[in-house]
Amino acid sequence: MGCNLLKGKRGIIFGALNDMSIAWKVAELAHEEGAIFTLSNTHIACRMGNVVELAKKTGSELIPADATNVEDLENVFKTSMEVLGGKIDFVLHSIGMSLNVRKKRVYNDLDYNFLSKTLDISAISFHKMIQTAYKLDAINEWGSIVALSYVAAQRTLYGYNDMADAKALLESIARSFGYIYGREKKVRINTISQSPTITTAGSGVKGINSLIDFSDRMSPLGNADALDCAKYCVTMFSDYTRKVTMQNLFNDGGFSSMGMSLRAMDQYNKSFDPEELAEDGSEI
Ligand SMILES: NC(=O)c1ccc[n+]([C@@H]2O[C@H](COP(=O)([O-])OP(=O)(O)OC[C@H]3O[C@@H](n4cnc5c(N)ncnc54)[C@H](O)[C@@H]3O)[C@@H](O)[C@H]2O)c1
Repeated sequence: MGCNLLKGKRGIIFGALNDMSIAWKVAELAHEEGAIFTLSNTHIACRMGNVVELAKKTGSELIPADATNVEDLENVFKTSMEVLGGKIDFVLHSIGMSLNVRKKRVYNDLDYNFLSKTLDISAISFHKMIQTAYKLDAINEWGSIVALSYVAAQRTLYGYNDMADAKALLESIARSFGYIYGREKKVRINTISQSPTITTAGSGVKGINSLIDFSDRMSPLGNADALDCAKYCVTMFSDYTRKVTMQNLFNDGGFSSMGMSLRAMDQYNKSFDPEELAEDGSEI
């Protein structure tokens, strides 16, 4: 049961692929909270039954767009304003893809064409999206733009590869454009840094199951799941967060502030031969 937190608001949600997608949960929750919105994804993704089903369920128009293509993005914003009946109040960028990860090219053997694609799809598309909205003056005052990030922007995590560089750029774009859009139009821009989550994109990350287990053991509140992330996104779209901008906000159960936890230490100690450990668990 929603609380009408987004009643009267118009949005655009990019990146819902299937019911595991974080954007999918955001769409369901935003609908429950009274928002009207359009959905966008790649031309191929929009032809898949899943997204069509979400559009029907939430009464949303589906607008195909390659997020790296500015003309496609212009069409998304113009069509959205037409079908929703006015300027936009919130935008979710929930897009990420690395061909280096997909093709198992490790960080010290990157394919640079793939790297350009990773940066364009996963980070520069955020700039393109915001610049398109800005030029079309498509967003209402106090509107909210959110993109999803990961702690690999700040810390090195094995296997995250060139997506770490993309996330660092994504967060930087939120700050740089957040200054201009805030100053000129009172629009806020933030990134939410989410725990590792099982989704189609998440499953591509090397050792994702171990990473999820490790970060859950390290986080005092445990990992945040896709629904937790949707709740945070909806809060960020609401009027309760009007003065929050240019931030990278961690939705990670506390992981990003931890160095070592008891639960992770216990598991680490299990990897040693018992004879190598003193009674308190330390190495002899
Ligand atoms: N799953 C995780 O562990 C995790 C953790 C932190 C942040 N994130 C971020 O959350 C966001 C959403 O990912 P998800 O985990 O829900 O996975 P997902 O696979 O469900 O979503 C990724 C989306 O990106 C879309 N996409 C790819 N290329 C595109 C393009 N050129 N134009 C438009 N759309 C394109 C895909 O079609 C898909 O809908 C990503 O930015 C991801 O990096 C995910």
